[in-house]
Amino acid sequence: MAKLKCHVIIVAYPAQGHINPLLQFAKRLASKGLKATLATTPYTINSIQASPAVGIEPISDGFDEGGFNQASSVEAYLESFKTTGSRTLTELILKFNATGFPISCIVYDSLLTWVLDVATRLRVYSALFLTNSASVCSMYWHFDKGVLDFPVKKETLPVSFPGLPPLGFFDLPSFLAFPTNHSAYLDAVFDGFHCLDETDWVFCNSFEDLEIELVKAMNGLWPVVMVGPMVPSAYLDQQIDGDTAYGASLWETETDQCLKWLDTKPSQSVIYVSFGSMANISAKQVEEMAWGLKASNRPFLWVIKESENKLPVDFLDSVGEIGLVVSWCNQLEVLTHQAIRCFVSHCGWNSTLEALSVGVPMVCVTQWSDQPTNAKFVEDVWKVGVRGKKDEEGIITREELEKCLKEVMGGERNREIKTNAYKWRDAAKKAVSMGGSSDTNINQFVSKLLIGKE
Ligand code: UDX
Repeated sequence: MAKLKCHVIIVAYPAQGHINPLLQFAKRLASKGLKATLATTPYTINSIQASPAVGIEPISDGFDEGGFNQASSVEAYLESFKTTGSRTLTELILKFNATGFPISCIVYDSLLTWVLDVATRLRVYSALFLTNSASVCSMYWHFDKGVLDFPVKKETLPVSFPGLPPLGFFDLPSFLAFPTNHSAYLDAVFDGFHCLDETDWVFCNSFEDLEIELVKAMNGLWPVVMVGPMVPSAYLDQQIDGDTAYGASLWETETDQCLKWLDTKPSQSVIYVSFGSMANISAKQVEEMAWGLKASNRPFLWVIKESENKLPVDFLDSVGEIGLVVSWCNQLEVLTHQAIRCFVSHCGWNSTLEALSVGVPMVCVTQWSDQPTNAKFVEDVWKVGVRGKKDEEGIITREELEKCLKEVMGGERNREIKTNAYKWRDAAKKAVSMGGSSDTNINQFVSKLLIGKE
C-alpha cells in the first residue's frame, strides 16, 4: 500500500450535495495510504470537521464573507469562482509543492471544470468527479455530442439512450426538459463533458451493479469509472478509522432530538421526509405534504428549512406527538434508525444513493435537476419505491402522497420493494468492500498515481 508518497487535492463545489461525496472520496483515498486534502471556499470551510485523515484548505470563489448568496446570479458566481478559484488553487498547490507535500493529482467537481487548466499548467494528473448518476451523465454526454436534439421536442418522445429505459418528458433531468430555466448550470454541466478526453480519469459516484446496463452499453464510448457509493464506511459495514459521518454540515443539526424522538417509536413505523439542501419547495406543495402526512396516520419526521413560513397554521398542534419537524439533521443517522420505514425524498443523487445503500424504500417527490430521472430509476429499474404523480400545476396532492405511502408501507408492492431495497443495500456494500468493483477501481487509480506522471 502507498506510504503517503502521493498527495491528492480534491476541489469541491461549496454545496452540501457536492462536499459530502468529495470529502468522502478524500477519506477513501486517505484510507489507501495517500495524503488527501479537500479544498473548498472559506465561507463553507468552517462547517467541515477537521479529521486526522484529510486536510481542509480554503480556495476563494470571490465571495469569502457570504458565498453564493452574495453573487448577483448563478452565472456571476460561477465566473467569479473560475477567476478567483484558479488563482487561489494555483497558490495553494505551489505552497504544498514548496513545503514537501507536492501535489500529484487534482480531483475536481464536475461543476468546476476550470480546474483542469490549473492541472495542465502545473503538469499534474487530473480527475473529474461526477456527482450525478452515470445514467444522467450519459444523457448529458449524448446531448452534448449532438446525438439528440436539444432542447427535447415532445413529439420525439420517448427518448432512447443506450443502456437506459425509454424516457418520457417528465423523466428527463429538468436541465434538458426546461433548459432555459437553468442555463448557467447546464453550461457548467456540458463543460464537464468537454473535458473527458483531456482529463486523466473520470470518476462517478455510483457503482457498476447499480447501473450495469448503462456500463455495458457505454463500454468503450466514454471513460467513466465507478467508485461509489460515497457513503461513510460505517454505514457500509466497513471500518475505516473514524469514518462514521460525512463530517460536513452547512447547517446546525437537530440530530439528537430526532434520535430521541425516534427511540420512542415502534420499529419500522416512521416516515422520514427531506428535500435535501437546495430545493425550494413551494408553499402549496408543503401544505399538501403536511395534510397528506397527517392523513397517513403514521409517525413522521420532516426536515424542512424555513418551516415557520410555509407550514399550515396549527398543523404542528394538530399532529401532536405523531410528527416531528426539524430544520436539519444528520440524514444517515436518522435513515439508519430502526424506527424508520420509508423515505419521502426529492431524489437528489446523494439522498437516493444513501437510501439504496442502507436499504430504505422511497416515495419520490421530485423538484428539479437530475431528480426526475433518479426517481424513474427508483420506481422502474431498481424497484425500491414509487413516484408521486404531479397534477397539472406540478403539485403532488395530499391524496396522491397518501396513496404512495400506502403502497410503499403496506400495499401489494410493499414486499417486493422491501426485498429490492435490501438487495441494493447488499450490492452497495459489496462494491466498496475489498475486491468489490468500486474498491478495485480506486486501487487501480492509487497504483497508477504511485507510478507518477512523466
Ligand atoms: C443537489 C442535487 O439535488 C443532487 O441531485 C446533485 O447530485 C447534487 O446537488 P441536494 O439537493 O442537496 O443536492 O440533494 P442530495 O444530493 O440528496 O444531497 C443532500 C445531502 O445532504 C445528502 O448527502 C444528505 O445526507 C444531506 N442531508 C440532507 C443532511 O445531512 N441532512 C438533512 O437534513 C438533509
